[in-house]
Amino acid sequence: MTPTLMTERLILRPPQLGDAQPIADFLNDMDVAGNLARVPFPYHLSDANAWLRTQKADQLPQQANFSIELAGAGYVGHIGYQPIGENAVIGYWLGKPHWGRGIMTEAAAAAINWFFSTTDAPAIYSGVFYFNAASLAIQRRLGFTETGRSTLLCLARGVELEHIDTKLTRSVWKARQA
Ligand SMILES: CC(C)(COP(=O)(O)OP(=O)(O)OC[C@H]1O[C@@H](n2cnc3c(N)ncnc32)[C@H](O)[C@@H]1OP(=O)(O)O)[C@@H](O)C(=O)NCCC(=O)NCCS
Repeated sequence: MTPTLMTERLILRPPQLGDAQPIADFLNDMDVAGNLARVPFPYHLSDANAWLRTQKADQLPQQANFSIELAGAGYVGHIGYQPIGENAVIGYWLGKPHWGRGIMTEAAAAAINWFFSTTDAPAIYSGVFYFNAASLAIQRRLGFTETGRSTLLCLARGVELEHIDTKLTRSVWKARQA
């Protein structure tokens, strides 16, 4: 069951059908979709509705998705996990008007703390396309380290791109809690 998490400025809660319009507005932007692997472009309201209909209240932690609400602004973006083999991979995006204020660092820290507290997973996996300095900065700040390079299809751009693979181990996360 995906919980609701509170941080200083944010509420992370399960996605709802009412999120479709802001999701569609924010993702129909190549500056957002073009940094993500699996988001089509252009992105339509019907895409948001179709994705929201796949969301269930009883997802495993490895499949948990959170809508991010900012006090005073409402829906601002998304953070969630997807299982790839045995691994949980974290991904996230924020609507462009909300970039540059530390929102995703705050949201990711909360989503990671929840995941490691809820599961016994030894690590959380992630990564960025090679040009995504902002996202890499967030991951480094939270303790992720680079594990290698791969290529990954960017659906919005329709090309395979170099991807920096990263991981945050439970031991690094735990050491940072002290
Ligand atoms: C990546 C994204 C989530 C960042 O969200 P945000 O709330 O603006 O990020 P934060 O403000 O918490 O942190 C951004 C960090 O990147 C740094 N940064 C921003 N732009 C940068 C750039 N061009 N080069 C290097 N670092 C940069 C900031 O200084 C900050 O690091 P710091 O806290 O150590 O100073 C947002 O830009 C986004 O949604 N982009 C499109 C989708 C995306 O890229 N998703 C991630 C896919 S891996």
